[in-house]
Amino acid sequence: MNSPTPTALVTGASSGIGTIYAKRLAQRGHPLILVARDTARLNALATELRASAKVDVDVLPADLTHSRERLAVENRLREDTSIGLLVNNAGAAAPGGFVDADTDKLESLITLNALAVTRLTAAVLPGMLARGKGSIINIASVVGLAPEISLGIYGATKAFVIAMSQALAAEVSGKGIYVQAVLPAATRTEIWERSGRDVNALRGVMDVEELVDAALVGFDRREAITIPPLPDAAQWQAYEAARLAMLPNFAQEHAAERYRAV
Ligand SMILES: NC(=O)c1ccc[n+]([C@@H]2O[C@H](COP(=O)([O-])OP(=O)(O)OC[C@H]3O[C@@H](n4cnc5c(N)ncnc54)[C@H](OP(=O)(O)O)[C@@H]3O)[C@@H](O)[C@H]2O)c1
Repeated sequence: MNSPTPTALVTGASSGIGTIYAKRLAQRGHPLILVARDTARLNALATELRASAKVDVDVLPADLTHSRERLAVENRLREDTSIGLLVNNAGAAAPGGFVDADTDKLESLITLNALAVTRLTAAVLPGMLARGKGSIINIASVVGLAPEISLGIYGATKAFVIAMSQALAAEVSGKGIYVQAVLPAATRTEIWERSGRDVNALRGVMDVEELVDAALVGFDRREAITIPPLPDAAQWQAYEAARLAMLPNFAQEHAAERYRAV
């Protein structure tokens, strides 16, 4: 007997990349749990998808920067054994850099972009491991590879998501769990306006449907890292090869010659 298509929990489903993931996953037959703060938008999407894709859709409104609301999502991930796919997509950017930054806003960004991703992943993993299957999609960013092109800590939070995804994949990929980090570049969504920037001032902006469809091609290929806009995969492979080539050289009893005091 075929097992039923697993339920997918998508964070940040009320707009942008998350909405398109929800639509595409519904078309693939996944029952859905939609998470974000805007209940009205989530309900409207849920109504649309129940009608168009004939799948069950639950709405779980939560501000993922609030520990009590986030805990409700964690509990659902821990207790709902139908969940086989977690899409950690909710995220935000912030205008400006470190200088003059509002420290509380920096903390909120880290909480949403890094801590919530960590806690939701930790909540869903034990069940997936017990069932011997499951997938986790983490929406990072190319800025995680190039923090200097984006002011402030946004790039650092996305570097965290990339590193976390790679560490998790190393830990659980032999246990039936697939982890994918998706690295979009500029994509036409509300994130730009929300963070006080004009997306029309940028060149090379991808439409959100194209971004998600490409990311799902990477998902179906079981890629660990998917960079939808990168034309030449060999560039990423060379970057990874250079990084991995350093690893055996880190274990040394003595500092490198160039650091020895004369
Ligand atoms: N667009 C790009 O150029 C781009 C490039 C690289 C990576 N990304 C990443 O892609 C992901 C999706 O962003 P997007 O471009 O689709 O932007 P978006 O349209 O602004 O969507 C962000 C989503 O996150 C939700 N969200 C924001 N704050 C939240 C909170 N405190 N608690 C719960 N949900 C929250 C929003 O819903 P509510 O307001 O209803 O809560 C919305 O559904 C983010 O992780 C972003 O960093 C985007």
